[in-house]
Amino acid sequence: MVKPISEACLRNQKPISDALKSLLSKGQQTNSIKLLEIGSGTGQHAVFCAQELPDVTWQPSDLLNNHEGMLQWINEAQLNNVLSPLVLDVDQNWPEIITDHVFTANTVHYISDKSVRNMFTKVSGILPHGGLFIIYGPVNENGQFTSEGNASLDEWLKTCVNPLAGIKDLVEIEQVAKDCDLVLIDNLAMPANNRLLVLQKN
Ligand SMILES: C[S@@+](CC[C@H](N)C(=O)[O-])C[C@H]1O[C@@H](n2cnc3c(N)ncnc32)[C@H](O)[C@@H]1O
Repeated sequence: MVKPISEACLRNQKPISDALKSLLSKGQQTNSIKLLEIGSGTGQHAVFCAQELPDVTWQPSDLLNNHEGMLQWINEAQLNNVLSPLVLDVDQNWPEIITDHVFTANTVHYISDKSVRNMFTKVSGILPHGGLFIIYGPVNENGQFTSEGNASLDEWLKTCVNPLAGIKDLVEIEQVAKDCDLVLIDNLAMPANNRLLVLQKN
């Protein structure tokens, strides 16, 4: 299998790792922080961010069909703070996971509302009090796309990936979060009309 490369990851990995650095060092020693990533895709964020955050132990995960490609990045990088990927489907039973924080990039718009709710419920169940759930990706505001690019992405997702997928509105995300005992504590602007939502477990 040819090593998969996401061009978007190459563009957004530095802003994401910079933001994670600042968020994860607040109020806690970064030394031996455990972080679960959901929907790691190619594994590029795992490898890049783990290099930038050497005190974070990064646990990648995704559906099994992405593991072969992801392992090429992980094995090549030879980092002692990236663990072997877990098979994790937000809609199925999760393996036992102990983590301080959870990160996910570009998954919330990729899955249905029901799957988002499943993900939030399970994340809330594994996060300790004060743990962060950090979500990167496009988000609608007041029912509107924030760019033409996001509107096109939404149309493509519904046509080509899953008719139930699509960019979610901030209000919907906040409501699901609230139902799951998670509070939005930050909403950072990121390149290319993406956001970094920072939710905290009560
Ligand atoms: C658009 S890709 C994002 C990949 C990577 N995080 C990135 O930013 O490049 C969406 C990811 O969500 C994963 N995914 C889709 N459905 C999922 C599910 N039910 N449970 C867990 N992951 C899922 C896909 O396998 C894919 O890796």
